[in-house]
Amino acid sequence: MVMEKNNVKGVKEFYDDTAMMWTDEWYDNTMMMPFLKKVASMLPNGARVLDLGCNSGYETRRMKELGLNPVGLDFSKNCIDIAKERNNDIAFFCDDMLNDLTYLGKFDSIVAIASIIHIPEDSLELCFKRIYDILNDDGYLCMVVRNEIGKLDASYKTIGNQDYDREVYGFSKEFIEEKINGKFVFIEEMIAHDDHWKYYFYKKV
Ligand SMILES: C[S@@+](CC[C@H](N)C(=O)[O-])C[C@H]1O[C@@H](n2cnc3c(N)ncnc32)[C@H](O)[C@@H]1O
Repeated sequence: MVMEKNNVKGVKEFYDDTAMMWTDEWYDNTMMMPFLKKVASMLPNGARVLDLGCNSGYETRRMKELGLNPVGLDFSKNCIDIAKERNNDIAFFCDDMLNDLTYLGKFDSIVAIASIIHIPEDSLELCFKRIYDILNDDGYLCMVVRNEIGKLDASYKTIGNQDYDREVYGFSKEFIEEKINGKFVFIEEMIAHDDHWKYYFYKKV
């Protein structure tokens, strides 16, 4: 699809502009519950987890309800503002996951649901390094990624008169493991809610 470049907004702007839409859609949608329950089953009650790319905090909320001690991070300010407003018992941070996040302290698990999908291929290794740096020894990396390869057509979206390139990428498991660069070991894959997605569980080594 060809679009006029100067008119196209990127990933962060897309989520800023649509923050309310995801909030309305997802606070009551429990589709990710089997994945979240699996995450909770791997951890002790009260384990510190980071919801990486948490949007407006709906899955962060559910992690709290499952007995975990979650923190949310997203680079969309509008999403984080809603997350804070709706969850005064959870800490939320507005930042880019490619930045140094060590100020957040360490976590027992990083939960990245459909968020690493927005990281360009040439930044994926840095993304895993940032995650590694804030995981406790033996901590888990639990991720939901696209079951396709390369930049997806779903990247391009028009809402009203506004065109977006929200940069959606699919990575093969082999590609992920190349970029993980020995920092994590694969534990298992859980069957995803549909064929477009993969649920992968890794452990820090
Ligand atoms: C498809 S949504 C998924 C949201 C939520 N995890 C869920 O399960 O529905 C992707 C989220 O990742 C966030 N995101 C994308 N790239 C990011 C980055 N580099 N740093 C922080 N957040 C990012 C977006 O703002 C958006 O809220």
